[in-house]
Amino acid sequence: MCLGNICRSPAAEGAFRFLSKKMGRESDFEVDSAGTGSWHIGQAPDERSQAACLKAGFNISAHRGRQISKADFDRFDLILACDHENYSNLCDMKPAGSEAKVELLMTYAPEAKTLAIPDPYWSGAEGFDHAVKLCLMAAEGLLKRY
Ligand code: 4NP
Repeated sequence: MCLGNICRSPAAEGAFRFLSKKMGRESDFEVDSAGTGSWHIGQAPDERSQAACLKAGFNISAHRGRQISKADFDRFDLILACDHENYSNLCDMKPAGSEAKVELLMTYAPEAKTLAIPDPYWSGAEGFDHAVKLCLMAAEGLLKRY
C-alpha cells in the first residue's frame, strides 16, 4: 500500500509475486496492491518503476492503479504500508470489526534498518532502484515468516 499505487506498491506486489513464484509458493497467497490516494486510478505503473523492476528480474507492466476500499479490509489478512503516512491513513480507515492487520512493510526486513520506503516519485532512477531493493528484502522476509 502506498500513496499513488504507481511506484512503490506495484513494485512491492511484483517483488512478492516474483519471489513466491521462484519458491513454488505462488498459490499460497492472494496478493494485490493499492494506493491510499485516487490520482492514479487505472494508470499503468510509472515507467521508472517498471524499468527498475525489469532490471531486478520481474515485470509489473500489467498492473493498473487502484485505490484501497473498505472491502480490502475484509478480503486481506495483512495490509502492508510503504511508509508512515500511508500506515497512519490505513489505520484510520480500518473499519471497526475488521481483523486485518495493518503493518509497515519494512518491519519484515529489519536488516534494511529503515521502516519506510522513501517516495521515489520526485527522485531519479536510483530512488526507484533503492525502492525495488527494499521491496525485495521485505518480500523475502515475508516469505520466511508466512
Ligand atoms: P507511490 O508514488 O505512492 O509509490 O505510487 C507516488 C505516486 C504519485 C505521487 C506521489 C507518490 N503523486 O504525487 O502524484
